[in-house]
Amino acid sequence: MKILVIHGPNLNMLGRRDVSLYGKETLEQINRELQRRAKELGAELTIFQSNSEGALIDFVQTHTSGADGIIINPAALTHYGYSLRDALEDAKLPVIEVHLSNIYAREEWRTRSVIAPVARGQISGLGKQSYLLALTALTQKEGNRKK
Ligand code: DQA
Repeated sequence: MKILVIHGPNLNMLGRRDVSLYGKETLEQINRELQRRAKELGAELTIFQSNSEGALIDFVQTHTSGADGIIINPAALTHYGYSLRDALEDAKLPVIEVHLSNIYAREEWRTRSVIAPVARGQISGLGKQSYLLALTALTQKEGNRKK
């Protein structure tokens, strides 16, 4: 099973961003743990981060074929990234949207996700566990359906 893991804008700054919201771990540390868990689950990950919506869309378009699912933390694009939303819909793969912080317990504008309607599910507020649980879900039948 091949899974794309996509990190949106500013997530390259993890470990230096507000640690009370996003935790102390760097993106590299989270990615290492994801790779370790993927090995246990027999999954192969392709991981990508960009601060640009266009680069994220290019990645989705060029890696969809041959992939079985997508884990994405769209970061702030969650709330207004319509082009990214359309690219994810066009990918026709099960998508799990993840967030480190609980987007429903913060500013009002963060409570709306334009990505959620094209996702199989969303995991928000569990720190790096949000990613790890998404990985577990995608490798099981229940989480692997497109909708
Ligand atoms: C985030 C939540 C977003 O609102 C924010 O813009 C981020 C990170 C999270 O993982 O909690 O950059 O997606």
